Amino acid sequence: MTTLIVSNWKMNPRTLKEARRITQATKKAIEKHRGVRGVIAPPAVFLRDLAGRSRSKKVMFGAQNIHWEKEGSHTGEHSPPQMKEAGAKYVIIGHAERRALGETDEDVRKKVAAALDAKLTPILCFGESKRDEEGAYLSVLAEQLRVGLADVPKEKSKRVIVAYEPVWAIGAEAAMDAHAVHETALYIKKILTGEYGTGASLPRILYGGSVNEENASELLSHGEIDGFLVGRASADPEQVSALIAAAAS
Ligand code: PGA
Repeated sequence: MTTLIVSNWKMNPRTLKEARRITQATKKAIEKHRGVRGVIAPPAVFLRDLAGRSRSKKVMFGAQNIHWEKEGSHTGEHSPPQMKEAGAKYVIIGHAERRALGETDEDVRKKVAAALDAKLTPILCFGESKRDEEGAYLSVLAEQLRVGLADVPKEKSKRVIVAYEPVWAIGAEAAMDAHAVHETALYIKKILTGEYGTGASLPRILYGGSVNEENASELLSHGEIDGFLVGRASADPEQVSALIAAAAS
């Protein structure tokens, strides 16, 4: 099974020149190693340039957000067909940093459906903001997935990727422990199986939150996941190369 590494550059880097440099480094590392594929989600303003120059079959591009409407009076937003035309094949939806700005599960549901409608692969982000001994966070995860996937019928479920990102592990010092990732991934599979049935091809599961070259291999071998959603380490040419090499090993 191929490992998918999604680069979420967030609002980085400052210049197009630097964006091209990080893209080059990412592509070079992905092309060099077997069993890995990449998706680069740059700031929207760089998307057309970076995707337009790329000939790689192993590295695709993505958007960091979309609106659910195709066009209209939504200042500052981008629609799914616009992102598609600019070169996106994927779109990150419901990232914790957008949820912190007020994005709801209901918004996520509409965006996931709009992405599929535009033939973009949605990467649905979800995750608890804190863990509690009693396990109340598990119902938070179930609810985020249930609402976010509400408009995705069984026959489209394998076109969706879900990215589990515990909010407390994003931008943190350490990633979640690989065994805890494993346990949570099994729980996520249980929820997805509950939604789509045992015979269905389920969405692929990524882990995100402080993934780097040091923890990538351990998280992949024990985590029961199909890849990563990476923030900081993805926007640095040296770090992203090292991370990809570690994930491929
Ligand atoms: P991080 O960010 O890798 O910098 O923790 C992950 C994310 O926000 O997707």
